[in-house]
Amino acid sequence: MRAAHDAATKPSASFVLSSMRDQAPGPHADFSGAIDLLDWDEFAGAVAQLQRSVPAALSRDSFSLLLVKQEAHENSGTEIIGYVADTVLNPRHRAMMKRHAADESRHSRVFLALRRLITSDASVAAVAKKEPDPFLARYQGDLASFLWDTHFAEISSIFYLDTVRRAVTHPQQAIRRKIDAALARVIADERRHVASTASILSDLFRDDPLMVARMQASFSDYVHAVREQAERRTAEH
Ligand SMILES: [Fe+2]
Ligand SMILES: [Fe+2]
Repeated sequence: MRAAHDAATKPSASFVLSSMRDQAPGPHADFSGAIDLLDWDEFAGAVAQLQRSVPAALSRDSFSLLLVKQEAHENSGTEIIGYVADTVLNPRHRAMMKRHAADESRHSRVFLALRRLITSDASVAAVAKKEPDPFLARYQGDLASFLWDTHFAEISSIFYLDTVRRAVTHPQQAIRRKIDAALARVIADERRHVASTASILSDLFRDDPLMVARMQASFSDYVHAVREQAERRTAEH
């Protein structure tokens, strides 16, 4: 079984909690209890729909288009997570979020490198950045809701990228191996992001009486967003 699926074959509370296994301090009891209340079958159904948007065998053109979207997505993550990190006072949380933002920046470069690799064209340009991201003007300092959104996005991303990883085709084995190794590394980072966002959220549970409401609102919004994304991506391929 692939690394991304070593705890579960679909998103679940146990997937989140096992991702956190190596975190210190471990999850707060309120966090573990709350995450268990979510309708993970609903989430897994939306993610499965997104996974089905990936063709079983990705053509070079489809993969290239997908890499462009992923690169833009990582650029946005880098900017937004870095921005929010700068507003965080807790030094441990801030350091985790800074590392998270740096990872997303590296992912953006990895996806560009893969595009250059599969097109054999080292001059392929990076995706132009739209700056500033509109989120920055909207952010009102609700760190918990932001982190829930990010947390659910990271979970979905792991399963989506793992499906992409299985669907990649290329006539040269050496290139297939490079693509596979690069995607495996990105997926491992996203798994760490699941753990780091969960770890901060677990800490925030101690002081925020609205945490369960924030979690449930973010969860519902995210399930809806994944279904919309799946419909868009299915239409694109
Ligand atoms: Fe990423
Ligand atoms: Fe991530």
